[in-house]
Amino acid sequence: MYDPEHRLAWPARGYRWATERLYHEFAWAYDAVSWLVSLGRWSGWRRQALAYVGGPRVLELGFGTGELLIEMAGRGWQAVGLERSPAMQRVTARKLRRQGLRVPRLCGAAQALPLAAASLDAIVATFPADYILAPGTWHEAARALRPGGRLVIAGLFVELDLPALRPGYSSATQRIAARLQALAAAAGLALTRHADETARVRAPVYVAEKSGAAGGPGA
Ligand SMILES: C[S@@+](CC[C@H](N)C(=O)[O-])C[C@H]1O[C@@H](n2cnc3c(N)ncnc32)[C@H](O)[C@@H]1O
Repeated sequence: MYDPEHRLAWPARGYRWATERLYHEFAWAYDAVSWLVSLGRWSGWRRQALAYVGGPRVLELGFGTGELLIEMAGRGWQAVGLERSPAMQRVTARKLRRQGLRVPRLCGAAQALPLAAASLDAIVATFPADYILAPGTWHEAARALRPGGRLVIAGLFVELDLPALRPGYSSATQRIAARLQALAAAAGLALTRHADETARVRAPVYVAEKSGAAGGPGA
């Protein structure tokens, strides 16, 4: 969890450096590493987002190794992926080829979407990198979503309901949640939080909805 608003101490800089290596040189190891660090929970946490995605025209930001793109294509949705890392693109292309699936993919940044205004029912970002805390990403999302469309975010941070860890860790997660709220408000989106509060380890889902009447084929 990286907070660009906060001055980076050396552990945060080291964490950021390591995650960048994982998105590039070691993209081939991403699935195994994410499974290990989450003790097998990663794909379940990622899939939670789909329950909040309404409509078939969906853009996935930072699709990584393409697991959610495959899942969405399997549901018959008109999924499109956007990913900045060429190495992640290659891993995903191999998976799609093996499964005989064709999913349009764009290489680029979430802060500059090469898509028409109001052309999407939903945008989904799971375990997003720091692009999700950039105002440009939110303005682009608000532009590309149709009225009533949603930006769905899962896994921005994991909450640990463990008393020993609570004070420092939860103030960091609260700071990120407050930043999301501010970004959503500035982009004119209404933000809601969804989580299984009974789980001791949980990855909340945030849904940012664009106001206006739902319309188009995804309504
Ligand atoms: C933590 S991974 C998440 C991958 C996948 N969504 C998942 O649930 O496992 C973050 C991904 O976002 C990509 N990324 C980072 N910055 C980006 C940006 N500005 N625009 C698009 N993708 C970006 C990285 O290359 C990486 O693949």
